[in-house]
Amino acid sequence: VQHPRSTLWWSSQRDVFILDQTRLPFSIDTVPLCSAEDAARAIETMQVRGAPLIGITAAFGLALQARHQADDASLQRAAETLAHTRPTAINLRWALARVMRAVEAVSTEERAERAWQQAVLMHDEEILHCARIGEHGGALIADIARNKRSRVHVLTHCNAGWLATLRWGTALAPIYHAHQQGIDVHVWVDETRPRNQGAQLTAWELQQAGVACTIVVDNAGGHLMQHGEVDLVIVGSDRTTRTGDVCNKIGTYLKALAAKDNDVPFYAALPSSTIDWSLCDGVREIPIEERDANEVHFVAGEHGPARVTPIDSIAANYAFDVTPARLVTGIITERGVHAATEHSLALAYPEFAHG
Ligand code: MRU
Repeated sequence: VQHPRSTLWWSSQRDVFILDQTRLPFSIDTVPLCSAEDAARAIETMQVRGAPLIGITAAFGLALQARHQADDASLQRAAETLAHTRPTAINLRWALARVMRAVEAVSTEERAERAWQQAVLMHDEEILHCARIGEHGGALIADIARNKRSRVHVLTHCNAGWLATLRWGTALAPIYHAHQQGIDVHVWVDETRPRNQGAQLTAWELQQAGVACTIVVDNAGGHLMQHGEVDLVIVGSDRTTRTGDVCNKIGTYLKALAAKDNDVPFYAALPSSTIDWSLCDGVREIPIEERDANEVHFVAGEHGPARVTPIDSIAANYAFDVTPARLVTGIITERGVHAATEHSLALAYPEFAHG
Protein backbone atom coordinates (compact mmCIF):
# COMPACT_ATOMS: atom_id res chain seq x y z
CA VAL A 1 0.00 0.00 0.00
CA GLN A 2 1.38 3.39 -0.93
CA HIS A 3 1.73 5.87 1.91
CA PRO A 4 1.49 9.46 0.59
CA ARG A 5 5.16 9.97 1.40
CA SER A 6 6.62 6.71 0.12
CA THR A 7 9.71 6.23 -1.96
CA LEU A 8 9.27 2.45 -2.26
CA TRP A 9 6.18 0.32 -1.70
CA TRP A 10 4.59 -2.97 -2.76
CA SER A 11 1.17 -4.40 -3.61
CA SER A 12 -0.55 -7.33 -1.89
CA GLN A 13 0.83 -9.47 -4.75
CA ARG A 14 4.27 -8.22 -3.75
CA ASP A 15 4.85 -6.13 -6.86
CA VAL A 16 7.45 -3.49 -5.93
CA PHE A 17 7.25 0.16 -6.99
CA ILE A 18 9.41 3.24 -6.56
CA LEU A 19 8.96 6.97 -6.99
CA ASP A 20 11.12 8.21 -9.89
CA GLN A 21 13.22 10.97 -8.30
CA THR A 22 14.89 12.02 -11.55
CA ARG A 23 11.60 13.65 -12.60
CA LEU A 24 10.83 15.52 -9.39
CA PRO A 25 9.64 18.17 -8.69
CA PHE A 26 8.20 18.59 -12.18
CA SER A 27 6.48 15.24 -12.51
CA ILE A 28 5.46 12.49 -10.06
CA ASP A 29 6.09 9.15 -11.75
CA THR A 30 6.02 5.60 -10.45
CA VAL A 31 8.33 2.87 -11.74
CA PRO A 32 7.81 -0.90 -11.17
CA LEU A 33 10.79 -3.00 -10.06
CA CYS A 34 10.47 -6.57 -11.36
CA SER A 35 14.02 -7.88 -10.96
CA ALA A 36 17.41 -7.30 -9.35
CA GLU A 37 18.49 -5.68 -12.64
CA ASP A 38 15.59 -3.22 -12.39
CA ALA A 39 16.63 -2.36 -8.83
CA ALA A 40 20.26 -1.92 -9.90
CA ARG A 41 19.21 0.34 -12.77
CA ALA A 42 17.01 2.44 -10.47
CA ILE A 43 19.95 2.97 -8.08
CA GLU A 44 22.45 3.64 -10.85
CA THR A 45 20.28 6.19 -12.67
CA MET A 46 19.33 7.77 -9.33
CA GLN A 47 15.62 7.16 -9.70
CA VAL A 48 16.19 6.20 -6.08
CA ARG A 49 18.98 7.89 -4.13
CA GLY A 50 19.96 8.74 -0.58
CA ALA A 51 21.88 6.20 1.47
CA PRO A 52 19.05 4.49 3.42
CA LEU A 53 16.80 4.24 0.36
CA ILE A 54 19.61 2.85 -1.80
CA GLY A 55 20.14 0.12 0.82
CA ILE A 56 16.50 -0.91 1.08
CA THR A 57 16.03 -0.84 -2.71
CA ALA A 58 19.00 -3.22 -3.01
CA ALA A 59 17.45 -5.50 -0.36
CA PHE A 60 14.22 -5.71 -2.39
CA GLY A 61 16.30 -6.26 -5.54
CA LEU A 62 17.85 -9.31 -3.94
CA ALA A 63 14.42 -10.50 -2.77
CA LEU A 64 13.16 -10.22 -6.37
CA GLN A 65 16.12 -12.28 -7.52
CA ALA A 66 15.43 -14.94 -4.89
CA ARG A 67 11.87 -15.21 -6.19
CA HIS A 68 13.21 -15.78 -9.65
CA GLN A 69 16.23 -18.01 -8.95
CA ALA A 70 17.49 -18.70 -5.44
CA ASP A 71 20.67 -20.76 -5.79
CA ASP A 72 23.92 -19.41 -4.30
CA ALA A 73 25.50 -18.44 -7.62
CA SER A 74 22.52 -16.48 -8.87
CA LEU A 75 22.09 -14.60 -5.60
CA GLN A 76 25.77 -13.78 -5.40
CA ARG A 77 25.74 -12.49 -8.97
CA ALA A 78 22.73 -10.30 -8.24
CA ALA A 79 24.33 -9.02 -5.02
CA GLU A 80 27.48 -8.09 -6.95
CA THR A 81 25.52 -6.28 -9.67
CA LEU A 82 23.66 -4.32 -7.01
CA ALA A 83 26.83 -3.58 -5.00
CA HIS A 84 28.54 -2.10 -8.05
CA THR A 85 25.90 0.54 -8.69
CA ARG A 86 27.21 3.21 -6.31
CA PRO A 87 30.39 3.05 -4.22
CA THR A 88 30.05 5.49 -1.32
CA ALA A 89 26.86 4.77 0.66
CA ILE A 90 27.68 1.88 3.00
CA ASN A 91 23.95 1.18 3.48
CA LEU A 92 24.03 -0.59 0.12
CA ARG A 93 26.61 -3.14 1.23
CA TRP A 94 25.08 -3.38 4.69
CA ALA A 95 21.66 -4.25 3.24
CA LEU A 96 23.01 -6.80 0.77
CA ALA A 97 25.06 -8.52 3.49
CA ARG A 98 22.02 -8.77 5.77
CA VAL A 99 19.78 -10.31 3.10
CA MET A 100 22.54 -12.70 2.01
CA ARG A 101 23.07 -13.86 5.61
CA ALA A 102 19.34 -14.45 6.01
CA VAL A 103 18.99 -16.52 2.82
CA GLU A 104 22.16 -18.51 3.33
CA ALA A 105 20.70 -19.82 6.59
CA VAL A 106 17.80 -21.62 4.84
CA SER A 107 17.23 -24.08 1.97
CA THR A 108 16.88 -22.88 -1.64
CA GLU A 109 13.09 -23.46 -1.55
CA GLU A 110 12.66 -21.22 1.49
CA ARG A 111 14.84 -18.39 0.22
CA ALA A 112 12.28 -16.34 -1.72
CA GLU A 113 10.08 -16.02 1.36
CA ARG A 114 13.04 -15.44 3.68
CA ALA A 115 14.56 -12.70 1.51
CA TRP A 116 11.22 -10.94 1.20
CA GLN A 117 10.62 -11.05 4.98
CA GLN A 118 14.13 -9.72 5.58
CA ALA A 119 13.69 -6.82 3.14
CA VAL A 120 10.35 -5.89 4.73
CA LEU A 121 11.88 -6.07 8.21
CA MET A 122 14.74 -3.78 7.22
CA HIS A 123 12.30 -1.39 5.54
CA ASP A 124 10.23 -1.18 8.73
CA GLU A 125 13.33 -0.81 10.92
CA GLU A 126 14.64 2.09 8.84
CA ILE A 127 11.31 3.89 9.18
CA LEU A 128 11.41 3.43 12.94
CA HIS A 129 15.03 4.59 13.09
CA CYS A 130 14.26 7.73 11.13
CA ALA A 131 11.32 8.48 13.44
CA ARG A 132 13.67 8.15 16.45
CA ILE A 133 16.25 10.41 14.79
CA GLY A 134 13.41 12.92 14.44
CA GLU A 135 12.68 12.77 18.17
CA HIS A 136 16.32 13.07 19.30
CA GLY A 137 17.19 15.79 16.79
CA GLY A 138 13.85 17.51 17.35
CA ALA A 139 14.77 17.92 21.03
CA LEU A 140 17.93 19.82 19.98
CA ILE A 141 15.84 22.22 17.91
CA ALA A 142 13.34 22.58 20.76
CA ASP A 143 16.21 23.54 23.13
CA ILE A 144 17.40 26.24 20.77
CA ALA A 145 13.84 27.53 20.35
CA ARG A 146 13.40 27.71 24.14
CA ASN A 147 16.59 29.72 24.61
CA LYS A 148 16.15 31.92 21.60
CA ARG A 149 12.41 32.58 21.85
CA SER A 150 12.20 33.26 18.14
CA ARG A 151 12.38 31.42 14.81
CA VAL A 152 15.05 28.69 14.58
CA HIS A 153 17.10 28.66 11.36
CA VAL A 154 18.53 25.33 10.23
CA LEU A 155 20.85 24.97 7.25
CA THR A 156 20.89 21.68 5.37
CA HIS A 157 22.79 20.36 2.36
CA CYS A 158 21.56 17.97 -0.33
CA ASN A 159 18.43 15.95 0.38
CA ALA A 160 18.22 13.83 3.51
CA GLY A 161 14.46 13.87 3.87
CA TRP A 162 11.80 11.22 3.27
CA LEU A 163 12.85 11.09 -0.37
CA ALA A 164 16.28 9.82 0.68
CA THR A 165 14.84 7.24 3.07
CA LEU A 166 11.58 5.33 3.49
CA ARG A 167 9.83 7.96 5.59
CA TRP A 168 10.71 11.08 7.66
CA GLY A 169 14.32 11.30 6.49
CA THR A 170 17.45 11.72 8.58
CA ALA A 171 18.54 15.40 8.56
CA LEU A 172 14.98 16.53 7.87
CA ALA A 173 13.34 14.24 10.46
CA PRO A 174 14.23 16.57 13.38
CA ILE A 175 12.87 19.50 11.39
CA TYR A 176 9.58 17.71 10.68
CA HIS A 177 9.38 16.70 14.33
CA ALA A 178 9.97 20.26 15.56
CA HIS A 179 7.48 21.63 13.04
CA GLN A 180 4.85 19.16 14.26
CA GLN A 181 5.49 20.32 17.84
CA GLY A 182 4.57 23.83 16.76
CA ILE A 183 8.14 25.18 16.80
CA ASP A 184 8.75 28.01 14.34
CA VAL A 185 11.54 26.55 12.21
CA HIS A 186 12.93 27.84 8.93
CA VAL A 187 15.34 25.93 6.69
CA TRP A 188 18.11 27.30 4.49
CA VAL A 189 18.24 24.81 1.63
CA ASP A 190 21.58 24.56 -0.20
CA GLU A 191 20.81 24.02 -3.88
CA THR A 192 23.49 21.26 -3.99
CA ARG A 193 25.04 21.32 -7.42
CA PRO A 194 25.53 19.49 -9.65
CA ARG A 195 22.26 17.52 -9.36
CA ASN A 196 20.45 20.10 -7.24
CA GLN A 197 18.95 17.66 -4.75
CA GLY A 198 18.44 20.59 -2.36
CA ALA A 199 16.70 22.91 -4.81
CA GLN A 200 14.67 20.16 -6.48
CA LEU A 201 13.96 17.65 -3.72
CA THR A 202 14.45 19.20 -0.27
CA ALA A 203 12.63 22.42 -1.17
CA TRP A 204 9.76 20.38 -2.66
CA GLU A 205 9.50 18.14 0.41
CA LEU A 206 9.54 21.02 2.87
CA GLN A 207 7.02 22.98 0.84
CA GLN A 208 4.64 19.97 0.81
CA ALA A 209 4.96 19.72 4.60
CA GLY A 210 4.36 23.43 5.12
CA VAL A 211 7.83 24.05 6.60
CA ALA A 212 9.23 27.51 5.86
CA CYS A 213 12.32 27.30 3.66
CA THR A 214 14.55 29.38 1.43
CA ILE A 215 16.78 27.98 -1.33
CA VAL A 216 20.29 29.45 -1.35
CA VAL A 217 23.19 28.85 -3.70
CA ASP A 218 25.81 26.47 -2.38
CA ASN A 219 28.26 29.20 -1.46
CA ALA A 220 25.87 31.26 0.67
CA GLY A 221 26.20 29.27 3.91
CA GLY A 222 29.37 30.97 5.21
CA HIS A 223 27.89 34.41 4.70
CA LEU A 224 24.65 33.44 6.47
CA MET A 225 26.58 32.03 9.41
CA GLN A 226 28.76 35.17 9.75
CA HIS A 227 25.58 37.20 10.05
CA GLY A 228 23.96 35.03 12.72
CA GLU A 229 21.35 33.67 10.34
CA VAL A 230 22.01 29.98 11.06
CA ASP A 231 21.32 28.43 14.49
CA LEU A 232 22.45 24.94 13.54
CA VAL A 233 23.44 22.84 10.56
CA ILE A 234 21.99 19.34 10.12
CA VAL A 235 23.11 17.08 7.28
CA GLY A 236 22.72 13.40 6.42
CA SER A 237 25.50 10.94 5.70
CA ASP A 238 26.35 8.22 3.20
CA ARG A 239 28.99 6.63 5.37
CA THR A 240 30.27 7.51 8.83
CA THR A 241 33.35 5.89 10.31
CA ARG A 242 33.50 4.29 13.77
CA THR A 243 35.53 7.36 14.77
CA GLY A 244 32.84 9.83 13.69
CA ASP A 245 34.16 11.10 10.33
CA VAL A 246 31.10 11.95 8.25
CA CYS A 247 30.97 11.43 4.50
CA ASN A 248 28.14 13.27 2.78
CA LYS A 249 27.31 15.12 -0.45
CA ILE A 250 30.14 17.22 -1.89
CA GLY A 251 30.28 20.62 -0.19
CA THR A 252 29.29 19.37 3.26
CA TYR A 253 32.89 19.75 4.49
CA LEU A 254 32.96 23.44 3.54
CA LYS A 255 29.76 24.01 5.53
CA ALA A 256 31.33 22.30 8.53
CA LEU A 257 34.42 24.55 8.27
CA ALA A 258 32.25 27.65 8.12
CA ALA A 259 30.17 26.37 11.04
CA LYS A 260 33.30 25.82 13.16
CA ASP A 261 34.61 29.30 12.38
CA ASN A 262 31.30 30.84 13.43
CA ASP A 263 30.50 28.65 16.46
CA VAL A 264 27.44 27.21 14.76
CA PRO A 265 26.65 23.64 15.91
CA PHE A 266 27.07 21.11 13.09
CA TYR A 267 25.15 17.82 13.37
CA ALA A 268 25.02 14.75 11.16
CA ALA A 269 21.83 12.66 11.39
CA LEU A 270 22.08 9.02 10.34
CA PRO A 271 20.69 5.57 11.14
CA SER A 272 23.17 2.97 12.39
CA SER A 273 23.02 1.33 8.92
CA THR A 274 25.21 4.25 7.75
CA ILE A 275 28.06 3.55 10.19
CA ASP A 276 30.96 1.62 8.70
CA TRP A 277 32.46 -0.07 11.76
CA SER A 278 35.46 -1.26 9.74
CA LEU A 279 36.82 2.25 9.05
CA CYS A 280 38.79 4.65 11.26
CA ASP A 281 39.93 7.35 8.82
CA GLY A 282 37.22 8.70 6.60
CA VAL A 283 39.36 10.95 4.41
CA ARG A 284 41.76 8.16 3.53
CA GLU A 285 39.44 5.19 3.50
CA ILE A 286 35.98 6.11 2.21
CA PRO A 287 35.64 5.63 -1.57
CA ILE A 288 34.37 8.84 -3.14
CA GLU A 289 32.10 8.39 -6.14
CA GLU A 290 33.16 10.25 -9.28
CA ARG A 291 30.20 10.80 -11.54
CA ASP A 292 29.70 11.74 -15.18
CA ALA A 293 31.08 15.19 -16.02
CA ASN A 294 27.88 15.93 -17.92
CA GLU A 295 26.17 16.48 -14.57
CA VAL A 296 28.42 19.54 -14.22
CA HIS A 297 28.02 20.66 -17.83
CA PHE A 298 24.21 20.39 -17.84
CA VAL A 299 21.59 21.53 -15.35
CA ALA A 300 18.31 19.60 -15.32
CA GLY A 301 15.34 21.88 -15.79
CA GLU A 302 11.61 21.56 -16.24
CA HIS A 303 12.02 21.36 -20.02
CA GLY A 304 15.10 19.18 -20.08
CA PRO A 305 18.84 19.65 -19.60
CA ALA A 306 20.48 23.04 -20.25
CA ARG A 307 24.21 23.33 -20.94
CA VAL A 308 25.97 25.85 -18.66
CA THR A 309 29.65 25.37 -19.62
CA PRO A 310 31.70 25.99 -22.78
CA ILE A 311 31.58 23.16 -25.35
CA ASP A 312 34.72 20.97 -24.99
CA SER A 313 35.50 22.28 -21.48
CA ILE A 314 36.66 19.74 -18.93
CA ALA A 315 34.78 19.13 -15.68
CA ALA A 316 35.35 16.85 -12.70
CA ASN A 317 32.43 15.57 -10.67
CA TYR A 318 33.27 14.36 -7.16
CA ALA A 319 29.99 13.40 -5.53
CA PHE A 320 30.93 13.29 -1.84
CA ASP A 321 33.42 14.64 0.68
CA VAL A 322 34.40 13.78 4.24
CA THR A 323 33.94 16.04 7.24
CA PRO A 324 36.46 15.04 9.92
CA ALA A 325 34.97 14.21 13.33
CA ARG A 326 36.69 17.25 14.91
CA LEU A 327 34.28 19.52 13.00
CA VAL A 328 31.15 17.56 13.99
CA THR A 329 29.29 18.75 17.11
CA GLY A 330 27.23 15.60 17.37
CA ILE A 331 25.89 12.56 15.55
CA ILE A 332 22.14 11.99 15.82
CA THR A 333 21.15 8.34 15.50
CA GLU A 334 18.13 6.26 16.46
CA ARG A 335 19.78 5.78 19.87
CA GLY A 336 20.34 9.43 20.72
CA VAL A 337 22.80 12.28 20.16
CA HIS A 338 26.43 11.18 20.45
CA ALA A 339 29.77 12.94 20.43
CA ALA A 340 31.59 12.26 17.14
CA THR A 341 34.13 10.01 18.81
CA GLU A 342 34.91 6.31 18.73
CA HIS A 343 34.22 6.07 22.46
CA SER A 344 30.81 7.66 22.28
CA LEU A 345 29.66 5.64 19.24
CA ALA A 346 30.95 2.41 20.81
CA LEU A 347 29.03 3.16 24.02
CA ALA A 348 25.84 3.56 21.99
CA TYR A 349 26.46 0.50 19.79
CA PRO A 350 28.53 -2.00 21.77
CA GLU A 351 27.23 -4.92 19.71
CA PHE A 352 28.69 -3.48 16.46
CA ALA A 353 31.75 -1.72 17.86
CA HIS A 354 33.08 -4.84 19.54
CA GLY A 355 31.40 -7.45 17.31
O1 MRU B 1 23.91 11.33 -4.42
P1 MRU B 1 22.74 11.20 -3.48
O2 MRU B 1 21.57 12.05 -3.86
O3 MRU B 1 22.35 9.76 -3.26
O4 MRU B 1 23.32 11.77 -2.12
C1 MRU B 1 22.49 11.84 -0.98
C2 MRU B 1 23.17 12.43 0.20
O5 MRU B 1 24.29 12.87 0.15
C3 MRU B 1 22.41 12.39 1.48
O6 MRU B 1 22.76 13.48 2.30
C4 MRU B 1 22.75 11.09 2.22
O7 MRU B 1 22.57 9.98 1.39
C5 MRU B 1 21.93 10.92 3.42
S1 MRU B 1 20.29 10.52 3.01
C6 MRU B 1 19.34 10.32 4.37
